[in-house]
Amino acid sequence: METEQQRGAMQFARKHILDMESLSVEEINVILDTAERMKEISKRPVKKVPTLRGKTVVLFFYEPSTRTRTSFDIAAKRLSADSLTLSGSSSSIVKGETLLDTARTLEAMNPDAVIIRHSSAGAPHMLSKMTTIPIINAGDGMHAHPTQSLLDLMTVVEKKGKVSGLNIAIIGDISHSRVARSNCIGFKKLGAHITLAGPPTMIPKGIESLGASVTYHAEEAIQNADVIMMLRIQKERQKSYLFPSEREYAKVYGLTKEKLKKAKADVLIMHPGPVNRGVEIAPEVADGPYSIILDQVTNGVAVRMAILYLIVGGARDATAD
Ligand code: CP
Repeated sequence: METEQQRGAMQFARKHILDMESLSVEEINVILDTAERMKEISKRPVKKVPTLRGKTVVLFFYEPSTRTRTSFDIAAKRLSADSLTLSGSSSSIVKGETLLDTARTLEAMNPDAVIIRHSSAGAPHMLSKMTTIPIINAGDGMHAHPTQSLLDLMTVVEKKGKVSGLNIAIIGDISHSRVARSNCIGFKKLGAHITLAGPPTMIPKGIESLGASVTYHAEEAIQNADVIMMLRIQKERQKSYLFPSEREYAKVYGLTKEKLKKAKADVLIMHPGPVNRGVEIAPEVADGPYSIILDQVTNGVAVRMAILYLIVGGARDATAD
């Protein structure tokens, strides 16, 4: 008899995970439901099922990563897929090989999926058009980070029971944040209200077109929020300083215990990581009772197991031994 898991996989006909725009609400819900079931595997004494045995996934990371890369690697291993990591600096890219030639070389080895992080917006989309391999976007430039948004949605659903109707405040360097962009789209699709806050120099013009409200006053966003998501200043993507000093930034936009006194009693604090303690978030807030930052990390493994299962496999019950 067909299991619920198999029905989930069959509903999911998508070949690539490129951004949150292209995922329907139904597809998002299939991923979140599948991830919730995958989470149980990570709690077993033997954290491994044979679901993707014989499958190969390549983790192709042009930019540094701790959470995304390790969680995809762990996810693949928990589903028994073979995973290998190729970094920009250890590949023939340093000898001048192009992204496309690198991808076509990988394609010739017949992997079942390529998970790519790249500094250029649109790199995963290009590979999805120019090769036959299923492509999963692990973050492209300032454009999109769909698996981060999915794990953030999962974490909020777990903690609040829903997303619809919640006020989500995203505070920080919005301009350079693929997480902000993907979460605006993802949370909006599931019915949340989004407020983006940060210095005017870090909020792009026209961002309201994603359906978000904008304020330059962190306190205004904090007061009404059910969920506060703090973002790091992405110095690596800034051409010039957009704020006089980190100390002043922390004073005006950093989430401190003092600012948190104005928040709702059941507010949740999120951060995609990596955290710059003492800049966008005070250490006692990052480690405090409202913080669900490590729950986000835990759910990153479950969401990425779900995505690998739905994209690469899906022909059998994913949770069976
Ligand atoms: N949130 C996130 O993408 O973290 P990493 O850069 O460590 O993968």
